This record gives sequence, structure tokens and C-alpha cells, in this order.
Amino acid sequence: MKDLENKVAVVTGGSGGIGIEIGRAMLAKGMKVVLADLHQDALDAVTRDLGSPDAVGFAVDVTDFDALCALRDRTLDQFGACHVIVNNAAVGAGAKGSVWEHHLNDWKWSLEVNVMGVINGMNAFIPHLVEQDEGHVVNTSSGNGAYYPIASSGIYPVTKSAVTTLTECLWGQLREMGSKVSASLLLPSSPTPGVLATGIWKAGANRPDRYLRDDPDDLNPRDALADYKERAAAAGQEVVEAPLSDVADLCLRAIEDDLFWATYALDHQMQKLDERYASMKHLTPPDYLVEANLMAADAKERENQKGRD
Ligand SMILES: NC(=O)c1ccc[n+]([C@@H]2O[C@H](COP(=O)([O-])OP(=O)(O)OC[C@H]3O[C@@H](n4cnc5c(N)ncnc54)[C@H](O)[C@@H]3O)[C@@H](O)[C@H]2O)c1
Repeated sequence: MKDLENKVAVVTGGSGGIGIEIGRAMLAKGMKVVLADLHQDALDAVTRDLGSPDAVGFAVDVTDFDALCALRDRTLDQFGACHVIVNNAAVGAGAKGSVWEHHLNDWKWSLEVNVMGVINGMNAFIPHLVEQDEGHVVNTSSGNGAYYPIASSGIYPVTKSAVTTLTECLWGQLREMGSKVSASLLLPSSPTPGVLATGIWKAGANRPDRYLRDDPDDLNPRDALADYKERAAAAGQEVVEAPLSDVADLCLRAIEDDLFWATYALDHQMQKLDERYASMKHLTPPDYLVEANLMAADAKERENQKGRD
């Protein structure tokens, strides 16, 4: 979709870090934006801050298909059209232990939001886009679920790899039927070194009662970014934050230029991808998954570097 001016987009997870920046970037392109998230008060604060009549916030729970159909209809009532759906809402459950020990409620909650939430968004919006034969679908996955899984993080990459495969199937089917509707997979990252400081670091936030685990962390989730910054400060280091606008730029470029892989394809990610596919192709063990091996490789690289200096 080359000309985004006056086009209408819906962004789920719209009061979270990346969702807000995507909304801001869309407004800058002259688009009209519906930000959708769990809590109306948070959305109201975001739209007040964006300060544009072209941005509205509607409360929705992406695990509820009927609510997403109502969101589509409200968008059509509000702006008279709908062209782009960004299925971006997700949670990190903060699961504990090994992959066979994670609480079933961590699995159920993550699958319900991160996978079914995207499917609900696709089922609610894509028939409308296909019928008008114009539009774009962006599904937010993660490098951790597209390039290779970080083994210690278990549940999250399982859900994100489902989003990756789902979006590949979607793209293929839209092309096979000759639709002008297209799809992109957003893999948030930034060419600027640093972390993407968003709510996802506070794993377990917004956990609905039905997914409680009888764990004190359920009511008081840990802020992993604050902990990380504290540890870094104790070691005399500073944690830098990459601009979230880099992720939004990627999303907008994907829609405008019809890029499927919305990613910066950073060197270290491409290296991991090569290692993963070499392992598959040559039937060798997936050693890239073993963090002890990774640390040993890093240490070796540092030693080599010292030798070169
Ligand atoms: N921040 C990162 O480092 C990073 C990296 C890779 C991928 N991502 C992905 O980017 C996307 C945006 O995440 P973020 O980093 O901005 O985190 P975030 O926590 O700030 O935003 C996620 C938003 O989703 C909302 N949400 C959760 N459950 C919902 C539900 N049931 N219905 C509606 N909304 C719901 C939350 O309220 C939150 O506002 C997610 O898909 C995440 O997995 C983030």
C-alpha cells in the first residue's frame, strides 16, 4: 500500500510500548488509527498524549473473537473504512522452571493471547480486507520464535513461532488467490544497540484471574528490566535503550513497500539463522540452543579478540 494518507489502521496492544510508537508513526503518515488494548484509562492517556482527532482508543481483549468483530465494526463506524490490522498484543507469562515444569496456566494464557489473539484478529478483519481487495495485515512475532528459540524462554518462542508460521501461510494463501491484500511479519528490533524497553519486560502483568498460578509473583510481577538495570549498575555498566520508533519505522516500511520480513536482519541474528539451518541441513545437533556452549563460544571469541588486539 504505497499511499497511506487517510488509510485506517487498527493496532492491538495499542497502549503498550511498540503499539504506541506504531500509532504515532501512522499518524505522522496521515493515517487514522484505532489503538486497541485491555484498559480504557491507559488508552485514553495514550490518545491524549498523541493529541490527534485521528487517533482513538477502544478497549478490547484479543482473546475474545466477538470483541474483535465489534472492534472492526466500531472502526468502520468511526472512520468509515479499515485497511490495516496490526496484531501486536502479546504477553510474557514469566513461566518458571524447565519446559516440562511450566504451569499449565502460563501455557494457556500465552497461547490464548499470543496465538489465538492473532487468529481472532485475522478472522475478524481479513474477510473485510479481502472483500474490498485492499489492505495489509501485520502480525508481530519475535526474533525469539523466528530465527531460533532462546531455549530458556520456553513458552514465549513457542507462541511466536506459531505467529511466524501462521503469517507465512497467510501470505502464501493471499498470493495464491491473487488478492491485493498482503501480509508482513514484524520482528521487533533496532539497528541501535540497546534493549526495547516496553511492558513485555514485566512478565505476568495483566494476568487474568482464570490464569493465576497460586504464586506470590502473580499479584506482584517482577520488573525484569529494572532488575537488569540494577545488576548492570552494580557492575558499573549502564543499560541503554534503543528507540522504539525504529520498530515503528520497520512496520510502516513493511506496509508501504510490501515487505514480508519486517526486520533489520542484524548480523548476530543472521549468524544464528545460518547455524540453525546448517544444523537442519547437515543433520547435526542443534548446539546453538545450548547456552553453556554459547557462553563458551563468546569467551573464545573474546580470547581471540584479545589475541588480535
Ligand atoms: N519489547 C521487545 O523487546 C519485543 C521483542 C520482540 C517482540 N516483541 C513483541 O512486540 C509486541 C508488542 O509488545 P511490547 O514490547 O510493546 O510490550 P508491551 O507489554 O508494552 O505491549 C503489549 C500490549 O499488549 C496488551 N495486551 C496484553 N494482553 C492483551 C489482551 N488479552 N488483549 C488486548 N491487549 C492485550 C498489553 O496490555 C500491552 O499494552 C508483542 O507482540 C511482543 O511479543 C517485543
